[in-house]
Amino acid sequence: MKSVIIFGSFIFTLATGTVAFAHEDEAVVPANTYFAMAVTENSHNHYGENLLYLDFQEHPDTTKIAPRIVISPRIKPGSLTIDGKSGDWNPTYLTKIWGRVMNNYPLSEFYDAVPGEITMGSAWDEDYVYFLVQWEDANHDASIHRNLWTYNGDKWSKKKHVKPNPGAPAANAINTTDEIFGSESEDRVFFMFPVRDMQRNFREGGLGCAAYCHANAELSGTSTEAAVGEDVAAMHTNVPEDKADVWHWTSTRSLPSHTLKDGHLVYGIGDYNGRKGDKGNASTVNNDSKKLKHSKTGQPAFMSYRDYAAGNYGSDNKDRTKFDQSDAIPMREVKFVKGDTIPYSINRPSTGGRGDVTALATFDEKSHRWTLEIKRARNTGDGDDYQFMVGTDANAPDNPAAIIGDAKRGEQLYLTHGCSACHQDKGQGLFQGGKWTFPRIQRSSGATILKTVRFNREMRGAVRSFIADEMKKSAQRIMPDIQISEQEAEDIASWLQLQFTTLGN
Ligand code: HEC
Repeated sequence: MKSVIIFGSFIFTLATGTVAFAHEDEAVVPANTYFAMAVTENSHNHYGENLLYLDFQEHPDTTKIAPRIVISPRIKPGSLTIDGKSGDWNPTYLTKIWGRVMNNYPLSEFYDAVPGEITMGSAWDEDYVYFLVQWEDANHDASIHRNLWTYNGDKWSKKKHVKPNPGAPAANAINTTDEIFGSESEDRVFFMFPVRDMQRNFREGGLGCAAYCHANAELSGTSTEAAVGEDVAAMHTNVPEDKADVWHWTSTRSLPSHTLKDGHLVYGIGDYNGRKGDKGNASTVNNDSKKLKHSKTGQPAFMSYRDYAAGNYGSDNKDRTKFDQSDAIPMREVKFVKGDTIPYSINRPSTGGRGDVTALATFDEKSHRWTLEIKRARNTGDGDDYQFMVGTDANAPDNPAAIIGDAKRGEQLYLTHGCSACHQDKGQGLFQGGKWTFPRIQRSSGATILKTVRFNREMRGAVRSFIADEMKKSAQRIMPDIQISEQEAEDIASWLQLQFTTLGN
């Protein structure tokens, strides 16, 4: 930080007595940048934007707010408390993002884990940058028990699936035949910033995080150097030396430690997983006897001393709290009873670069909304991190509503290709008698559209769940093959996104 301030006053000194071109403070405003942000219920369908524009401001200019532009006004140091509550944020500075499916799995593969909308804010001061994310949880629950060890009276197993809660968006999703995977059902938020972006993914018209995480061969590079293949969730950048800073908040694992997992993505090819943690310890250890090289497998390695001493195991008292490293003791002979649970993650303080993003969230049981607050030093001095420093602004988007794609052209294409005949005039789909005849596609990304229209149904393994019963009945129930280009898919996606209606409407 020091260097920025010195640099700032240096500029000011030069300017004094000549032309008053720069207010002293302007010299420290961080450079505007593109970034990505998503929330997810089950880790499969990420909702958010792969390319958002972060507009740092000395004085708040709310006219800049747009569905894909988040403003970050300067605040007085100490005016925001990181406690997972939004009371100290000015609501007029927040952006409402109509999150889209960002990966290339059509919704029919997994739950339509879609939040109504995502509210986002940012702010900065001399030393820190702050973010706020608020969203309605797709399954209306806090999902803080990922992989919970559960005793069935005979042996331990990890809780595998959860049923969608009645009334939650997940309950009238396109595909309601699958359960939500317990191991995946952990509410998460993900941010990505470009550290080195030679492929220009974090520029106007770029693919943002879509080029790194779940992009497929059709969209990203040649098939050998493509990000990932069909349905492979490997992650890496596509150009040597390129790097992206990744922040991953996970409800089960981040909440007790008040940090999120700070990591980065590096170069790789094929299905290489270039996702790395920054240096230092993560804030949790998996409580798995196999992983921790404990003698017995298929059971937790540790239990909580506090709960053991209090007699909470083997009793009807189900209040077995989370435990941290200092409270962990190896499993003892206890007469466990059916329904006993032991957390899968053991908390510990994170260290080094892993822990330099502070994050705290609260879940409101009434509105089913999460509020997440994030704070990070503008300059961590770590080469694996994006630094929020003075520099050249990324060019602002020409069309702030749609960074990629031309919505006007998209509307035309939607009509000329007859998409509306099935998916209805606004892409809202047809929801009749409690089920989908034609899926809602307003939240589909260009990648999802392309994947659906370009490949034969048989090849689209990902849509099998939706069509399994229906396809035998009528050919109409199968999405026809339609020839459109990558750009046309993006155009359609950007128009569809602006037609947002609530689920089932
Ligand atoms: C004749 C009816 C019909 C037409 C026309 C049609 N679709 Fe579809 N579409 C379907 C059906 C049925 C499905 C679900 C089964 C499937 O994926 O094959 C579907 C699925 C989709 C999906 C995947 C949804 C998801 O998340 O699972 C997308 C995206 C999509 N269509 C986009 C389009 C676009 C864009 C057009 C116009 C270029 C279009 N569709 C034209 C019937 C149609």
